[in-house]
Amino acid sequence: MEEFIVTVDGPAGSGKSTIAKIVASKYGLTYLDTGAMYRMIALYALENNVNLEAMLENTKLDIVGNKFFLNGKDVSEEIRTPEVSGIVSPVAAIKAVRVKLVELQREISKGKKTILDGRDIGTVVFPNAQVKIFLVASPEERARRRLNEYKEKGIEADFESVITSIKERDHIDSTRKESPLMKADDAVEIDSSVMTIEEVV
Ligand code: DC
Repeated sequence: MEEFIVTVDGPAGSGKSTIAKIVASKYGLTYLDTGAMYRMIALYALENNVNLEAMLENTKLDIVGNKFFLNGKDVSEEIRTPEVSGIVSPVAAIKAVRVKLVELQREISKGKKTILDGRDIGTVVFPNAQVKIFLVASPEERARRRLNEYKEKGIEADFESVITSIKERDHIDSTRKESPLMKADDAVEIDSSVMTIEEVV
């Protein structure tokens, strides 16, 4: 099968994963949540307090359907906690982490029809992708969405701390030296702030 790549980049909470999942099932594409990969590395760092080299050598990431396994353990829920969100951006700014995960992302997508969401997919991972989307939304709307997600999962959080964390992540993700969050020149920008999910899809 010929490789066909759709990239969805944008800041935290812009709706990337929601949209990518629906488009994937609608058009028969494999969906790859690259943020979850950075979250697994961050979770490992949080739990083990190890140095970077040991961390990258000792982590085995597996993705089966919509489940994420870190060294064989299902961490699909744990990677979405505020604790992991709080440290994932600095972890994702480390070059060695990115080199490893970008290689894995290309490997997983090899020869497949894939939709990937992240920050650098259209700019760095697949600069020649057939379709590139840059999805944005206002910080307030993104914080409201995150807060709802947390509520549904029974995680306690308040609007102020969620919006502060989102703005902090935006800042780190878009100003870092390695593959910052950036719209590719040939990406189509969509502002999802006042659009329904169906309209964005
Ligand atoms: O999309 P998310 O919130 O699950 O992403 C978590 C973090 O991972 C985000 O703050 C930045 C980083 N990330 C990245 O640097 N590059 C990607 N392709 C995906 C995520």
